[in-house]
Amino acid sequence: MTTTSPFLLETRGLSAWFGNAQAVKPTTLGCAANTVTAIIGPSGCGKSTFLRCLNRLHEEVPGARAQGEVFLENGPVYGPGVDPVAVRRKIGMVFQKPNPFPALSILENTVVGLRLAGVRRKNVLRELAERSLRLAALWDEVKDKLDQPGMSLSGGQQQRLCIARALAVEPRVLLMDEPTSALDPVSTARIEELVTELKKEVTVVIVTHNMQQAARISDRTAFFLLGEVVEFGETSRLFTNPVDPRTERYITGRFG
Ligand SMILES: Nc1ncnc2c1ncn2[C@@H]1O[C@H](COP(=O)(O)OP(=O)(O)OP(=O)(O)O)[C@@H](O)[C@H]1O
Ligand SMILES: [Mg+2]
Repeated sequence: MTTTSPFLLETRGLSAWFGNAQAVKPTTLGCAANTVTAIIGPSGCGKSTFLRCLNRLHEEVPGARAQGEVFLENGPVYGPGVDPVAVRRKIGMVFQKPNPFPALSILENTVVGLRLAGVRRKNVLRELAERSLRLAALWDEVKDKLDQPGMSLSGGQQQRLCIARALAVEPRVLLMDEPTSALDPVSTARIEELVTELKKEVTVVIVTHNMQQAARISDRTAFFLLGEVVEFGETSRLFTNPVDPRTERYITGRFG
């Protein structure tokens, strides 16, 4: 029997391997609905791998596997009969480098997931595209050129287009893996504002190397080190009063 959890998204003893190399050690943490959780930690500590386990993308890498449990709204994400494609519709993802489909227009990029989900009617697609583009704070910039290629947008706009694409299928969770690391400061600020707005719609888990960013936009922060969560807690507390000396070393920039 599954016990009811106060978390929208939860991991219990989640671990991940690439072949025989363990990238994530058993990790148990939970994200409440409509919150932003930041994941910080040095390069190679397993942040992206952890994130990709949450929506079952990790297992797409040949030789890679995950163990342990993930629950979304108390339902198992792993287990017999769970369709990973359905999981990825509920747990969307945005990557470091904006990756709109090069051959598709702005409109078609936005609705590509809806088309895959079987939505066919043009006016419905158009309406849902507008809703997602508005949510992604891109509508005003693209409403007069929806038929132009997604690639014709600036980097920051492309990233918001990818956010719109992820939001179009109405996910419960949005995973973001360093979504602003390829962007200029103005575009970064826009995405940060957007994340704060999006909290009303989705629960966000964001990997970032930018600790100011984590401090600005997240409610809780997890500090990863060597595949392990060293500390997880309220962001303001973790950054001002870390419990673990390794967290303190990392956030004060005195690491390794
Ligand atoms: N495709 C892969 N095949 C084999 N090993 C991998 C693969 N991807 C990552 N790893 C290894 O898994 C570990 C965790 O990598 P991961 O990409 O999750 O780190 P990260 O914390 O996201 O780092 P960064 O901050 O640089 O993005 C590292 O030791 C890495 O070398
Ligand atoms: Mg990474």
